[in-house]
Amino acid sequence: MNILFTIVLWLQLEIAVFGKSTRIIGGEPVDINKHAYMAALRNVMPDYHFCGATIISNKHMLTAGHCLYNKLENLNRIRVYTGSNSPSSYSGKAHKILQVHVHPAYNETKSTNHDLAILTLKDPLIFGPTHKSVALPIENIREGSFAVALGWGLSQYPSTTCSNVLRKTRLKIWNVSKCKEFFGSLQKQQFCAFDKAGVGICHGDSGGPLIINGRVIGITSINFPCAKGYPDIFVNVFDYLGFIKHIIDK
Ligand SMILES: *[C@@H]1O[C@H](CO)[C@@H](O)[C@H](O)[C@H]1NC(C)=O
Ligand SMILES: *[C@@H]1O[C@H](CO)[C@@H](O)[C@H](O)[C@H]1NC(C)=O
Repeated sequence: MNILFTIVLWLQLEIAVFGKSTRIIGGEPVDINKHAYMAALRNVMPDYHFCGATIISNKHMLTAGHCLYNKLENLNRIRVYTGSNSPSSYSGKAHKILQVHVHPAYNETKSTNHDLAILTLKDPLIFGPTHKSVALPIENIREGSFAVALGWGLSQYPSTTCSNVLRKTRLKIWNVSKCKEFFGSLQKQQFCAFDKAGVGICHGDSGGPLIINGRVIGITSINFPCAKGYPDIFVNVFDYLGFIKHIIDK
């Protein structure tokens, strides 16, 4: 668990230090029109991309707990970019955050478990071709299913190369007991997905979605340095439907 935890923290540090707008490894560029639920979290002054997020209602977005846990006092220094392939070029729309609900059981100093947060926008989104919400899952994940991860994370690792382009990659849901053996521990609400060495999520992809059939079934949470042949770890959204609906129905 300590190893996993280190990686999450380090991930944030690297993004903060280098301030890169970055992308997925081994994937391909996609158009925001095809994934109009994708959003990017950017710090302002200094300006840098730090996480992905997913639109789940006209006011709410799903992201990872570790993306916002240490920024709750500085929400006015975050902008959520929507409707753009290249948020770093300030195309699309920038939104201010009204409120953030990090999962009450998430505690970064303790573990990586319950790594999710819901942010509420100050002003509602106007839905259209580049702005849509994504549906929540209606059934639990199944081993062997193919899913799509999306993000602006690093496309090479180690690297300082950045891209302004939204990228996606296909990953397969892994056998949970196999993944547990692999990592030593895995929480009940976490699962793994993998393709092969050279493909996977990387720094800056955190908080973004894992999608199956137009539904957000996972939140990008942890990677062992970037597509080196280890599975990536996601939060199982199905396990948090109660928490999510409680907040978006408020
Ligand atoms: C998180 O865990 C640490 C260590 O157990 C504890 O000291 C701290 O109060 C916890 N934070 C919250 C917000 O519960
Ligand atoms: C997952 O892997 C374990 C251990 O290798 C195996 O016993 C189990 O049957 C597998 N689960 C499924 C659903 O295939």
